[in-house]
Amino acid sequence: MSVIGVLTAGGDCPGLNAVIRGVTARAVERGDSEVVGILNGWEGLMEGRTRPLDRDAVRGILGRGGTILGTSRKDPIVHGDGYESVRRTLEANDIDVVVVIGGDGTLRTALRLAEDGFPVVGVPKTIDNDIAATDFTFGFDTAVQIVTDAIDRLVTTAEAHNRVILVEVMGRTKGWIATHAGLAGGADAILIPEYPVPLEEVATVLRRRHRRGHDYSIVVVAEGVEPPAKVEHAKDIFGFERLGGVAYQIAPVIERLTGFETRVTVLGHLQRGGTPTAFDRVLATRLGTSAADLAADGKRGVMVALRGARIVDVPLAEACVEPRGVDPELFAVARTFFG
Ligand code: F6P
Repeated sequence: MSVIGVLTAGGDCPGLNAVIRGVTARAVERGDSEVVGILNGWEGLMEGRTRPLDRDAVRGILGRGGTILGTSRKDPIVHGDGYESVRRTLEANDIDVVVVIGGDGTLRTALRLAEDGFPVVGVPKTIDNDIAATDFTFGFDTAVQIVTDAIDRLVTTAEAHNRVILVEVMGRTKGWIATHAGLAGGADAILIPEYPVPLEEVATVLRRRHRRGHDYSIVVVAEGVEPPAKVEHAKDIFGFERLGGVAYQIAPVIERLTGFETRVTVLGHLQRGGTPTAFDRVLATRLGTSAADLAADGKRGVMVALRGARIVDVPLAEACVEPRGVDPELFAVARTFFG
């Protein structure tokens, strides 16, 4: 019997529980592995906090947001005694391999551990959809649906008051959520870091639209766009800037350039909470079952990924490169509908 440890680290994301369930159910079905849940991400691995997972332990969690294992932003390389405590926990629990479910910071830590001989299998996770080597990450579809629902609601109030509403969305340095939700919600302009549009051009587009009798507009703003004035952001332990609020800087500029009343809605963590969409549940489940197979079959230093319609495994190193940006063709489609 081999023992598979599983942990969720970094920011949460709808679908984490579906992965945990997938790993556990597949291990139980195979009958050659047991699963141990590691609590609070890397912190639990450093402090030896675990709980056994069996089929009953993962019933009823498929559609639940958050993570039943908890998560943290602690990291064995940045904090504590690094690897020693990790090694102790693995030995104490007879863990043969750890399935690490995380975003790019977590996966980079997993890669470092793998390079130092630790047995890990990665599962990519983020609402931002910016991890290289996989076509989509679970959580993204849910975030896009939440933003689309918000836009549908904001359109009617914007129309009633003849306002411009800026909807700020997450995504860090990439504009995937903004672009997909902007397209799905019929936004009149979309601002993302990859393809900056000068605010004068946005104002021209909005003025033209309002002149034609549509005197309200929705502009989706990705949190990572360049602010009109420089801002110092706090950083997390992986060195990522804590973003949020850029739309409040952009709104007065749009209002001055257009003369239209301009308001801001920052959706924030609403985009990460609650139940995953059907797409994310299925993707997360497939990634989880596949990760369990790789772990039980002795594969190490790899990550499960979606390529086209198939789940494949790729070297962890392939995921730990520059985050993946929005394709120019996709943004060109979005631009077609500006104004
Ligand atoms: O990476 C996922 C994400 O939700 C980003 O879109 C966002 O910038 C960041 O995490 C927020 O992190 P935190 O929950 O630490 O504020």
